[in-house]
Amino acid sequence: MSKRVGIFVSGGGSNMRALVEDMVGDHAARAAVVVSNNETAGGIAWARAQGIATEVIDHRPFGEDRASFEAAITAALAPYELDIICLAGFMRVLTAGFVTPWQGRMLNIHPSLLPKYKGLHTHARVLAAGDMDHGCTVHLVTAALDDGPILGQAHISVQDGDTASMLANRVLEQEHRLYPAVLRRFAAGETAPVML
Ligand code: GRF
Repeated sequence: MSKRVGIFVSGGGSNMRALVEDMVGDHAARAAVVVSNNETAGGIAWARAQGIATEVIDHRPFGEDRASFEAAITAALAPYELDIICLAGFMRVLTAGFVTPWQGRMLNIHPSLLPKYKGLHTHARVLAAGDMDHGCTVHLVTAALDDGPILGQAHISVQDGDTASMLANRVLEQEHRLYPAVLRRFAAGETAPVML
């Protein structure tokens, strides 16, 4: 039986699309639901058009009450009996209360070569540091932000004249290769890091 994957998005959802499009044929997993905190996320519209179930839990009514927001997500997920969660541009920090029960079964993609540049504005920080090597990382999610065991990385070279948005575009292309490659192996039970 296929593993059931929930994919969390906040924006365009291009990584989510790459994952969904790869979950065909002999892939050990299938997308069961796409979850967002943002009703207007492009990824939600795309998932609906594909006939994939969606759940939108707006974080705003919960204010600073992250525990209640996360409880609402947990309640919404229950019917889907998920095996794996993939965070794919989900822009809300999840606390230990949500993450701990999913530890070892929840993946995230981050646009830097972790452990460098956790958090936001990774491309600008790479430029400011003068790094020549940049890329993206898929890792298992732990309660610490952008931490946890690395499941794969893909690299790009930083060129003279690159801007943050040029780096973001080139890294995103690599994200679309890396995340499906990692999830395909992870769903089949392989956790040795994928290095592209
Ligand atoms: C990606 O760069 C991801 O690594 C970051 O946010 C971006 C999401 O892009 N956390 P998309 O929504 O998958 O197109």
